Amino acid sequence: MSEAWTPGREVNLLDRYPRARRPLADNRGASEAFKLIARQFGREYFDGKRTTGYGGYRYDGRWVPIAERIRDYYGLKAGDRVLDVGCAKGFLLHDLKAVVPGLEVAGLDISAYALGEAMSDVRGRLVRGEASQLPFPDRSFDLVMSINTLHNLDRGPLLRALTEIERVSRRAKYVQVDSWLTEQQRENLSYWLLTALTVVAPDDWRSLFREAGYAGDYFWTLTE
Ligand SMILES: C[S@@+](CC[C@H](N)C(=O)[O-])C[C@H]1O[C@@H](n2cnc3c(N)ncnc32)[C@H](O)[C@@H]1O
Repeated sequence: MSEAWTPGREVNLLDRYPRARRPLADNRGASEAFKLIARQFGREYFDGKRTTGYGGYRYDGRWVPIAERIRDYYGLKAGDRVLDVGCAKGFLLHDLKAVVPGLEVAGLDISAYALGEAMSDVRGRLVRGEASQLPFPDRSFDLVMSINTLHNLDRGPLLRALTEIERVSRRAKYVQVDSWLTEQQRENLSYWLLTALTVVAPDDWRSLFREAGYAGDYFWTLTE
């Protein structure tokens, strides 16, 4: 990590996202069997039952206002290059392309299933891979985002992923991960856990950011 490291900003760029409705009662103490299925990140996770994941991960336009928020916050314009780490079916990239004509997008995800189901206008821009090993040159993107993905990694790969995000960005970075701001949110999150391997408080996330040399922006997904 360089001596010149300074932390990024805590900013909620998903504040226009519909409030997550996580069915706490259904998932209280999700069984190990459900967790094993979910962690495959296959059909059952995206488009199976709610007990093993999303219960249907379909495009409904909810990312449009978030894409506008990200565009405005980072001043994205035609010709800029954006990478989404953990892009799933490419919904956010699709909407970013729509609200910033001429934007060049790329996505990476571990899920062959999600990539196979990706939106047709971005599918050719998505690659299967590991967040901890990004197959892109140094400083090749103006913005690298990773939303609700990195808490699914264990500490070692997670630190590498944060360092990788820093490496491939020449300008902006944004990471959003599960955490809590209140004890109630902490308790709620503990009931919900399905795929997450790193479940820590904001201060511990900041320590991880520092250890990895990640100097981008960040916020938390809170379980209400
Ligand atoms: C909760 S989903 C979030 C998807 C999307 N970013 C969103 O916010 O709707 C987590 C995503 O991370 C992907 N993922 C999990 N572990 C990963 C890893 N080690 N490397 C890359 N992608 C990973 C999953 O396949 C899944 O698409």
